[in-house]
Amino acid sequence: MKTLELAGVSVPVIGQGTWRLGEEPSHHKKEVAALRLGIELGMTLIDTAEMYAEGGAEKIVGEAITGLRDQVFLVSKVYPHNASRKGVPLACERSLRRLDTDYIDLYLLHWRGQYPLEETVEAFERLREEGKIGRWGVSNFDVDDMEELASPACATNQVLYNLQERGIEFDLLPWSQRQHMPIMAYCPVGQGGHLLKDHTVQQIAERHRATPAQIALAWLVRQDNVIAIPKATQPEHVRLNAEAANLQLESQDLAALDLVFPKPDGKQRLAMV
Ligand SMILES: NC(=O)c1ccc[n+]([C@@H]2O[C@H](COP(=O)([O-])OP(=O)(O)OC[C@H]3O[C@@H](n4cnc5c(N)ncnc54)[C@H](OP(=O)(O)O)[C@@H]3O)[C@@H](O)[C@H]2O)c1
Repeated sequence: MKTLELAGVSVPVIGQGTWRLGEEPSHHKKEVAALRLGIELGMTLIDTAEMYAEGGAEKIVGEAITGLRDQVFLVSKVYPHNASRKGVPLACERSLRRLDTDYIDLYLLHWRGQYPLEETVEAFERLREEGKIGRWGVSNFDVDDMEELASPACATNQVLYNLQERGIEFDLLPWSQRQHMPIMAYCPVGQGGHLLKDHTVQQIAERHRATPAQIALAWLVRQDNVIAIPKATQPEHVRLNAEAANLQLESQDLAALDLVFPKPDGKQRLAMV
């Protein structure tokens, strides 16, 4: 799998998301198996958060990485309401327990909340000194937030980015590229919705003997410093997602996609889900 450097570590450009995992006990085994299959296929970056199923997703991840911890690059996120000097270390300890590990590779502020950024950063830096986290970063930050943060220690910004939501290409993406800061694209296959039914995406997929979701992923990760983190529990989806990293889109594909999903021609509000 194609890799890039994130937080000083080589990681695959396609990882695995975990939102909605751990919500339904009867899906438990299937979810663990999906993540393990993904790791086996090279999608060793796993993105989770204390928010997902209120810790339930982290427990699924903890089970999935049993015996595989060293192969995995683990990303988790702290709730903004826990992002205080005292709250961050407590939240991190709870996440570590659920993940059944003694360190998180990359710990993110899920979105901006009531605590000053300096306070959260100070708490992150302390966790880093203690070896509880490898690096830290943010999520759902627009350019003005990144400029206010103004920290070269921030390893990534995780934002909504897919063919249908290209707003960051106007400013945030070029800004991040200039800082050589990888962006983690969430909802990369548009949550499995309309994007995958689009006629042009389907036509391009047919031409490549691929699927629409693979086109959506290949479109994202063809760019430098972009990581996609699709969530998939169907084993077939997991396999297809891992293979998408090898798909090469041609200039005619990109031009056709630009017609249906135009590049932004001005500032757009940062999209979030
Ligand atoms: N930082 C943030 O605020 C934030 C917000 C949202 C998401 N995220 C992270 O980003 C991850 C991805 O976003 P997401 O889960 O919202 O959306 P997504 O990955 O775009 O879409 C997930 C949906 O697409 C389906 N799917 C996956 N691969 C497919 C394929 N190859 N073909 C057809 N369908 C496919 C999945 O189905 P099955 O599960 O049935 O296979 C699931 O229903 C999350 O899981 C989470 O880790 C972060």
